[in-house]
Amino acid sequence: MKFSVNGKIQEVDVEEDMPLLWVLRDELGLTGTKYGCGIAQCGACTVHLDGQAVRSCQTLAIDAEGANITTIEGLGTPDDPHPVQQAWVEHQVAQCGYCQSGQIMQAASLLTFNPNPSDTDIDDEMSGNLCRCGTYPRVRDAIKTAATKLQEG
Ligand code: FES
Ligand code: FES
Repeated sequence: MKFSVNGKIQEVDVEEDMPLLWVLRDELGLTGTKYGCGIAQCGACTVHLDGQAVRSCQTLAIDAEGANITTIEGLGTPDDPHPVQQAWVEHQVAQCGYCQSGQIMQAASLLTFNPNPSDTDIDDEMSGNLCRCGTYPRVRDAIKTAATKLQEG
């Protein structure tokens, strides 16, 4: 199967029903995307599929074939971070960090489709991304900072 992952065409020989999460982590070595629950209930495995946030633990490889996939490794780089990543650093959002790539990917998707989200929009969009460390207030503040950065260009 062929996918575009972080702008690069990748070809993998996997079963059609392999979750995209395992394609990314085990076949392609992109371990920034995390396994939390495996049943689309925690958001740790969130990536972008053609720009939309999806749970990669419940996305079959066959359903992602031919798509453009972006993972946390492709959102930005240490030298050129995405505005959401910049805001995350400014607000020191992460605690243990386990949920954070999923949070960032969900937040980046939110701002693509809703550049100026209200608190309610943020809470609605982010409600499926669980954080056992309780970083939710900082997540919300960082999303607002990122929205401002994106609007300023
Ligand atoms: S691991 Fe996919 S939503 Fe929890
Ligand atoms: S930062 Fe620890 S689970 Fe979210």
